[in-house]
Amino acid sequence: MGTRSLDLTAWLIGDDDRDAQLAYKRRLLAERHDVVSAARRGCEAAAAEAAALMGAPDLEGAALLVQEDLCVLVRREPGWCLDAGVVCFPSMWSLRAKLGRPMAEIHGPVPAYAEELGAQVDRFLDRLDRPVWRRNWFIHGSSELHQPEPPPLSAGTCAPEDLWLRSERQALRRLPSTGALLFTIRTQQAPLVVVPDDLVRRLAAAVRAWPPELVAYRSAATWRDVFLERYDP
Ligand code: HEM
Repeated sequence: MGTRSLDLTAWLIGDDDRDAQLAYKRRLLAERHDVVSAARRGCEAAAAEAAALMGAPDLEGAALLVQEDLCVLVRREPGWCLDAGVVCFPSMWSLRAKLGRPMAEIHGPVPAYAEELGAQVDRFLDRLDRPVWRRNWFIHGSSELHQPEPPPLSAGTCAPEDLWLRSERQALRRLPSTGALLFTIRTQQAPLVVVPDDLVRRLAAAVRAWPPELVAYRSAATWRDVFLERYDP
């Protein structure tokens, strides 16, 4: 699953883009409220506990203090469910579509998740007593942070200069009073042209080995050929 234990002094990460990203979040909450913020009835106590942990009156207030996206997970039938969230910078998924759903359904589109990860993740969340984090990575053909949908196939192929390495540092911690979980997603990105060569070459070797279902899942049709031609010829 790729999780490591998290030192809580390094839980949330701010950087030079903080002011701009918080302003962007404020704008998204005003203009696209129902796309970026959602809560299911019944999870008020858990959402309030998450907000209080961050010194805010509610989850939207908390989301406007940090660059992270915030998700609250509640254990109920049929499992750990995403019952509240403020997610301004999703990487091609929709909070609305996932709200109230259990982990297995949320990860429905992820190749091999059900076979290789599903049961393990559920057990892991049941037992989580110390904070953890994990990191993923994607290649995107744009630096747009707010991406609730995959780019249309008609977008055509990207130039190598347009490619971005995008990575989420995801942290999970239990909320002690309600027993719910707070999942934070900090999206970090850099243009591929500034990423060290040895790292890009390793990413390229991984991308070359992706099975077709992963190419499709990661919407790689718009950038894969251009990327491999340049970095793994
Ligand atoms: C340690 C536990 C977890 C593991 C191992 C895991 C694993 C994964 C993997 C492998 C993917 C595919 C993209 C990628 O490579 O990252 C993914 C996507 C995703 N995960 Fe998780 N995940 C975990 C926890 C969570 C939690 C707690 C949430 C709660 C919101 C979540 C929400 C999502 C969503 C929304 C996607 C995108 C799904 C889509 O494309 O429709 N994950 N996860």
